[in-house]
Parts: sequence; structure tokens; C-alpha cells
Amino acid sequence: MKKILVTGGTGYIGSHTSVELLNAGYTVVIADNLSNSSIDVVDRIEEIAGKKISFHKVELCNRTEVDLLFEQEKDIDAVIHFAAKLQVNQSVQEPLMYYENNLFAQINILQSMLKFGVKHFVFSSSCTVYGNPDTLPVTETAQVKKAESPYGNTKQMGEEILEHSCKTKPIEAISLRYFNPVGAHESGLIGEVQHGVPHHLVPYITETAFGKRPFLNIFGSDYKTPDGTCVRDYIHVVDVATAHIAAVEQLLHGLNKKKYEIFNIGTGIGYSVLNMVNAFAKATGINIPYQLSPRRAGDVEAVYADTKKALSELKWKARYTVEDMLCSAWNWEQKQRGIIN
Ligand code: UFG
Repeated sequence: MKKILVTGGTGYIGSHTSVELLNAGYTVVIADNLSNSSIDVVDRIEEIAGKKISFHKVELCNRTEVDLLFEQEKDIDAVIHFAAKLQVNQSVQEPLMYYENNLFAQINILQSMLKFGVKHFVFSSSCTVYGNPDTLPVTETAQVKKAESPYGNTKQMGEEILEHSCKTKPIEAISLRYFNPVGAHESGLIGEVQHGVPHHLVPYITETAFGKRPFLNIFGSDYKTPDGTCVRDYIHVVDVATAHIAAVEQLLHGLNKKKYEIFNIGTGIGYSVLNMVNAFAKATGINIPYQLSPRRAGDVEAVYADTKKALSELKWKARYTVEDMLCSAWNWEQKQRGIIN
């Protein structure tokens, strides 16, 4: 059984990926500092998969702690690196915290991988690197635009660190550029935990459906899109998780065409904000009250993925529909609120 280290494995995408890794027969080691997640998630992952994982509370920004982790968990075959701070607004307020946290952690892991002879690395990147793309759907060869936020810049720099490391060091890596991950595991045991007012669209919709928010503000209705609202490529978090299994397998089987590869992880379909509100009503029978509001600073008008490369090389494609995504998000919201068991 191959052993995979998942950093940030108790977080939103990390927890879903850990479940899929266990389902696929991998041994899973999670390293997380629990700064944005709870230890209960470990039990929940184990409950869903019916298998045990090895958990380490680690500060990845601390070199010594990372080395100790690799020493304790011998024979790691690959690392999937999720652990990162990810709030765009917060990163603007606290740029140094973001650069320190996101870049030091990644560098420390790569250093330990070299020291302990671990070769394979999968990186959580983001479609944010494309900014406002010139052509749609956006391909992996599209220009990387100057980052709008320190958060976005840590993703761009993280990719460059990998590209340069793969050139001269015994490291093979894949960056997965996620589009908009949404939804939750069908069990309702894991999902995206909200702290305070949700920044992202789908949690805001489910909190409005639950009655916690009176209405949804739709940020901008004068964009050059079919209905004037922004267009995104929403993807079920379980599909994002299975993309990581495909990436790990590609690395472990020596199938990466180059030592460093980049893949878009989306459905290839663009949905506007209004499309999402309507899809939620169709999926759940609940109409979301909304108000058309001014544009939100920093939003791109439209972005959705060209998914051909992931299909032809990783043999991966998204399976879930937007209704699946929204039903699972609503199920998660209701379970958290104790509305359903
Ligand atoms: N939106 C609303 N109302 C809300 C929340 C969001 O209308 O209350 C709109 C946004 O304006 C945007 C769309 O819904 O048009 C999606 O917004 P999200 O915040 O859910 O997602 P983003 O596309 O802004 O965020 C994505 C990733 C982030 C990444 C960011 C960078 O989820 O991790 O792109 O551009 F940082």
C-alpha cells in the first residue's frame, strides 16, 4: 500500500481527498496545524472510509517539525500539499502572514522531501492565476496574469518554486489549478466549515436558504455575460478530490510527460450567479431571495476551464452536475444546523 502525506488534510478539499485516497487503497498520513479545522474531521474521514489514518499536528512553517514528520512516517511515496491560508481579503490585510505561511510551508516540505528521498508532489493551485483570461475556455498555456492579491501571488510563486525545483532536483510535480470547488460529501459528515459571513457564493446561498441571511447580494449585474452576472466553473469537491488520486497515480506510475505538469480542474461549463440561484431552486425547491448589488472589487468577469488536458493525460473528468453540487451543499448545511440527522 502506497503511503500519501496529505498536508491540510482536515480542511475542506483535504478531507474529501483523504476519503478518496482511503477508498482507493492508499495509506493516508495527515499533517495539519488545525488552525482552520477541527480534530473531529479525522474521525469523520475514518467513519466514512471505514479505515484508519495517521494524524500529526504539525506547524509546516517550522523546518524541524517537518523533518521530524518525515522521520516518523517512513517511506512516504507522495505528498499532496493543501495546507495554506486562503482568504483573499485577509491576504490583502496581512500580506507577510500569507507569504510566510504559504511559501515557508511549501519550501520546508520540498526540502524534507529531498532529504528523505520522496519524489512526488501534488500542489493545490487555483484558476486565480489566470486573472481575467483573454480567451475562454481557458487552457493551461494561457498567460498567467499579475496576481491581484498576496493569496493569488502565493499560488503563482508556489507554481514557480515547483517548476524551478523540478528542473534540477529529483522532484516530479503536478499543479492542479482548481476552478470553484463547491458542495460536500454525500454523507454530510464533511464539507466547508464557515467562520462568520461566507465570502463564497454557495455557502451564502445555503445560509440564505436556511434563513440565517435575509437575501443574497449578487455582486454585479452589468458584466458582459449573457445575464450580466459573473460566470464561474463550479466543480463538486468530490470531483476535485478524485483529480488528486489521478495526479498521484500519474506520478507514481511515471506517466508525467514532463517532470512538472499543470492541469485545469473544472467541469468546463460556465454558470452565472443567476444560473446558480436558479439551479438551487431546481435542485432543492427553495427560492433564494436576492438583490442586485454593485460589483465586488477584484472579481473577474468570466472564467471556465478547458478540460481537455486533464482528460487526455490524467484520464480524469468531473462527474457531478451542478444540481448534485447544490444538493450536497444544502444537505451539509442542514446537517450542521441539526435540521436533519
Ligand atoms: N458572489 C455573489 N454574492 C456573494 C458571494 C459571491 O454574487 O455573496 C459572486 C461573486 O461576485 C462571483 C461568484 O459569486 O461572481 C463566485 O464568487 P466566490 O467568492 O464563490 O468565488 P470566486 O470566484 O470569487 O473565488 C475563486 C476561488 C478563490 C480564489 C478566487 C480568486 O474560490 O479561492 O477565485 O479569484 F481565491
